[in-house]
Amino acid sequence: MTLRLGILASGRGTNAQAIIDAADSGRLNADIRIVIANRPGAMVLERARKHGIKSLCLDHNAFADRESYDRQAVEELLAAGADTIALAGYMRLVTPLFLRTFPNRVLNIHPALLPAFPGSRGVRDAWNYGAKISGCTVHFVDPVMDGGPIIIQAALPVLQDESEDQLLERIHVLEYRTYVQALQWLAEDRLSIEGRRVLLAPSTALPAPAPECALVWPPLEQNF
Ligand code: GAR
Repeated sequence: MTLRLGILASGRGTNAQAIIDAADSGRLNADIRIVIANRPGAMVLERARKHGIKSLCLDHNAFADRESYDRQAVEELLAAGADTIALAGYMRLVTPLFLRTFPNRVLNIHPALLPAFPGSRGVRDAWNYGAKISGCTVHFVDPVMDGGPIIIQAALPVLQDESEDQLLERIHVLEYRTYVQALQWLAEDRLSIEGRRVLLAPSTALPAPAPECALVWPPLEQNF
């Protein structure tokens, strides 16, 4: 099934770009119907325009409250024919009205291993906390900020001589791959939700991959 995708973003839009590129190259079975940003001048709008994708700025400052903002956003998304929503660096909570319109069809990406370090500063918070392993999470969205059932996580070691910005760059690279994978699983209709758990149906086309070995960081120096 081809996802009819609406992307919501607030800023730079590199995740949106990764999704656009994957759809363009056929790695992701998606038709991107609209990109909406809540901030004027958000670079993501330019990215959409360059690819001939409908783009729209809905400035959140022009709305009285979240509910009226989301009512307008939903109207635009439906008018564009979107049936699946990817939040890609969208720094706003979505309301129950929004979620009711697209039940189990709203995904988000977060640059930390949830439920650790939710919020708008996931990388900084993990770095400052001294986490040894961090990464990113793609999840279905529920009304809780960065809550909702987890679809995929990717982990990497936090290197002791790297800056927060360097960590951020490495996490971004993981994000681009995992977000596209999660969306492609949705397009293949292979995700189901049981309580908080997301189950992935095996691929009919590919053999099941062996689980990768655990990431322990810093590495064990003996065979404990
Ligand atoms: C991404 O790292 C995304 O995970 C994060 O915002 C960044 C947006 O970058 N989202 C959150 O922190 C949500 N809580 P981008 O605009 O370059 O895609």
